[in-house]
Amino acid sequence: MTLDTTVGARHLARYGQEWWRSAVIYQVYPRSFADANGDGMGDLPGITSRLGSLAALGIDAVWLSPFMRSPQKDAGYDVSDYCDVDPLFGTLADFDDMLTRAHELGLRVLVDLVPNHTSDQHRWFQAALASEEGSPERAFYHFKDGRGASGDLPPNNWVSMFGGPAWTRTTNPDGTPGQWYCHLFDSSQPDLNWENPKVEEAFEAILRFWLDRGVDGFRVDQPHAMGKAEGLPDHPDVERAGAGFIEGEASPPMWFQDSVHPIFRKWRKILDSYPGERAMCGEAYVLPLSFMALWVRPDEFHQTFNFRFLDSEWKPEILFNSINESFEAFDGVGAPSTWVLSNHDIIRHATRMGGVQGRPTASDGIGPNDPQPDRELGLRRARAATLFVLGLPGSTYLYQGEELGLPEHTTLADEFRQDPTFYRTSGKRVGRDGCRVPLPWESGLGAANGFNRTGQAWLPQPEIYAEYARDRQEGVAGSTLELYKHGLATRRRLGLGEGSFDWAPEFVSENSLGYRNGDILVVHNFGHEPIALPAGEISASSLHGMTSGHDLVADQTVWLRIS
Ligand code: GLC
Repeated sequence: MTLDTTVGARHLARYGQEWWRSAVIYQVYPRSFADANGDGMGDLPGITSRLGSLAALGIDAVWLSPFMRSPQKDAGYDVSDYCDVDPLFGTLADFDDMLTRAHELGLRVLVDLVPNHTSDQHRWFQAALASEEGSPERAFYHFKDGRGASGDLPPNNWVSMFGGPAWTRTTNPDGTPGQWYCHLFDSSQPDLNWENPKVEEAFEAILRFWLDRGVDGFRVDQPHAMGKAEGLPDHPDVERAGAGFIEGEASPPMWFQDSVHPIFRKWRKILDSYPGERAMCGEAYVLPLSFMALWVRPDEFHQTFNFRFLDSEWKPEILFNSINESFEAFDGVGAPSTWVLSNHDIIRHATRMGGVQGRPTASDGIGPNDPQPDRELGLRRARAATLFVLGLPGSTYLYQGEELGLPEHTTLADEFRQDPTFYRTSGKRVGRDGCRVPLPWESGLGAANGFNRTGQAWLPQPEIYAEYARDRQEGVAGSTLELYKHGLATRRRLGLGEGSFDWAPEFVSENSLGYRNGDILVVHNFGHEPIALPAGEISASSLHGMTSGHDLVADQTVWLRIS
């Protein structure tokens, strides 16, 4: 196989200097980051107390997954009050303390905004249920009559991302069956009707609520789901596409409708009206990237998650194409590409790279009955993958725990599972709990290794987590934590995030990929044979103890400074 580098993308370091173009943004999953009150659930005071470690890691910003009031049917992505903190996590005053501390440490804070759906416990939905068909209250959501003579068939063929139909039938106050409501996710997450200007108004107030409190921006959940085609027609190809879409074919009626773009333009104006470069990143699962680029035009989102890259298998040809597509698409609209390897919805990359295929998609998880990954291989590749990514210009997302090399919990017993995916598929998809397990901070400090002092944990850690605890890695040469710190510090010092990108053709092959960012050459060896490197100063290496003059061995990444 040869990869044609003459058609490979180039990226010039010529775009704006705003912080979000090159920021390293660390995802905090509040349930599992740190637990100050010891009830087994992470909380805001816990986050505040540990922010110093994140500043020391060398990141620019944190994104907090939802901590707003919620019945927690989908781990907080089912919000019942957008302007309050769930008592599980603390209070608004705790939030303010956290934000103040983050800003003191020079960290920006993005909060998660979930506009596609609310919780079924939200007062808007409760009011809709209590109101009659066709009422303004029902117009906040998608209520429809069922099909069939007695209306007992769902209004259309849409299926939920978590399995099962995307419709649930309501019961009228007199006990008779009523209308159906649409939910692209769990039945506890009714979809809002974004054709209704009242919904728009309500969300503008929510944006302002958090911006006034001082947040630096938002990570926006499922923005590509917000628009629905008029009349909510059937998905034209549900057998092949399931809940999703087939790339390259016409957009199905529930994904990436054009009608949503004016909403984000308004939001952008609101953000721009505040000082301090507030920014929003859309979780817009829109492919190919040339379509996703429409979401980061200069007057819409600042960033989107690069799902092409995230979904790419760790193989040279696939990554070559995905990086080319990224620069072509995002440079075309003057937006930064983002790079991400792990998040709270997919198998951690230290496990994905450990040589098991197992289940069809990474969000299906790995359970005790599945083939188990090779931990050592996974970690070695994950460290190399991270270093490969940290050298790329653009903005990078890290997911809590990856700086410890944390693997997925792949042997979690069914009785502990919380992800609605598990229940809606009767366990066929074990779901995402394995990447959401509380972090180990101090090895052996209680059963949860310093996540708190009581040892309680909403998801139990596997025994092996003690080996990965932060205190075992802090200051230890060669540890994954020190590799991240070094990589992040070097990236900052050399301005790699704001830098340029060119393939290094001599290292682009079926066994390796290499690129240049300024005078740094980044090379990864995907093959089995060592690769000779040119002379240069080693700025970083995914394998500890690498010195100049050595070959690049299998599954290793190196940054070489060529003068
Ligand atoms: C996003 C979140 C995921 C959640 C879903 C529904 O994909 O990342 O965790 O389940 O939206 O809100």
